[in-house]
Amino acid sequence: MRNAGSSLAVLVAAGAIALGAGCGERERPVTVATDTGFVPFEFIDTRTGELVGFDIDLIRAIADRAGFEIRIVTLDFDGIVAGVQSGRFDIGIAGMTITEARAETIDFSDPYYDAGLILAVRADETEIRSEADLAGRRVGTRTGTTSEDYLRRRHPDAQVVAFPGIVEAYMDLRAGRLDAVLYDVPNVRYYAAREGGGEIRTVGDVLQGEQYGIAFPKGSPLVAPVNDALRELRADSTFDRLHETWFGDPEPEE
Ligand code: ARG
Repeated sequence: MRNAGSSLAVLVAAGAIALGAGCGERERPVTVATDTGFVPFEFIDTRTGELVGFDIDLIRAIADRAGFEIRIVTLDFDGIVAGVQSGRFDIGIAGMTITEARAETIDFSDPYYDAGLILAVRADETEIRSEADLAGRRVGTRTGTTSEDYLRRRHPDAQVVAFPGIVEAYMDLRAGRLDAVLYDVPNVRYYAAREGGGEIRTVGDVLQGEQYGIAFPKGSPLVAPVNDALRELRADSTFDRLHETWFGDPEPEE
């Protein structure tokens, strides 16, 4: 009993210090940066005009659990990475892939989603069957993402077109102005199934395994409480419930 009591006290104290340093002393809510164009993680529900998605529900559940208030701001994806780096935002959540390069300038939470990159083509495409067929093709993606990086590194012979928003790339693919789009598996699949009007399908393998993490400025005191909250939400099935809401099934087992 005594042991349990004192370790709890230590935990509570550590939490208070972490949160005190993180937001209490500034007496303002934690600023969370995200964007508005990454189904089903963060996007505008066209019927209500509201920002919704898996990331939005997840960060709200984490903040509730860890006991801090949040204020959500939206901007372009590359601005989120830069703004977290500079400390302008306390948290970034935007289906952001944990990469070594980013981890040099920002801290990441434990991974919360397993993703990867995949090619999308028009449903009637016959010539592009995998990434081996990209030479000389117009391939769209979003600026500042791991897909842009992948295309420029691995496919210098493709004509890479980077858009500020991925929906424009999907539109151009459907209209025949692009031959393919490379982007995150969950986003491509969701778009193809729900919004692509049956005009888009995926081809080839998942090209690069990736994991999403929540981003913080280097050394942020919020990393530990956010990871604790994430662990609790996984343990009590809140996480699975959110996963089911947005992806139609619980999180796959390891
Ligand atoms: N996972 C990719 C990356 O980190 C793309 C993320 C795009 N996210 C967004 N909210 N637009 O580079």
